[in-house]
Amino acid sequence: MNIVLTGFMATGKTEISKAISEISKYNLVDTDDMIVEQEGITINEIFDKCGEEYFRKTECEVIKKAAEMKNVVIATGGGVVLNEQNIENLRKTGVIFNLSPDFSVIRERLEEARKTRPLLKQDSIENIKKRFDDRKPFYDNCDYKIKVIHGRTPRSYAMEILEIM
Ligand code: S3P
Repeated sequence: MNIVLTGFMATGKTEISKAISEISKYNLVDTDDMIVEQEGITINEIFDKCGEEYFRKTECEVIKKAAEMKNVVIATGGGVVLNEQNIENLRKTGVIFNLSPDFSVIRERLEEARKTRPLLKQDSIENIKKRFDDRKPFYDNCDYKIKVIHGRTPRSYAMEILEIM
């Protein structure tokens, strides 16, 4: 089975999936990277030029392709869980983990996170917190919850996830 990492923006999906891939047989797949490669522009540019709806449609196609792969760890974008079809596709071939921090962890990482994420770029902290809370039920729909806390290394999360597999 594949390993699928979900979670709000800046929860560490990319770093933890890299760590998993380094210490195991799983090859790394990052669905945002697949989108960037397919479209030839950055995520920020896709949102600016084509809008969120187009991004979500492309994301859905890419998730389908990723779910067809074998022995991979899939780092997904934070909004993947919003579409039930994405979760259905990923669940056919993978175990879905949710990286779950308190909002304080996101707040700490926000300055850096804003640089590459259109949904954080101009949003107020109140709106970001609201998005975080609104998405909670979608993240709760995953198979395993991994608590994200300040200061833990990506490798330690990777070990925890690999032990479950
Ligand atoms: C998004 C998260 C981003 C990226 C896009 C939308 C979201 O990925 O897919 O900016 O809706 O949460 P990360 O979770 O890797 O930042």
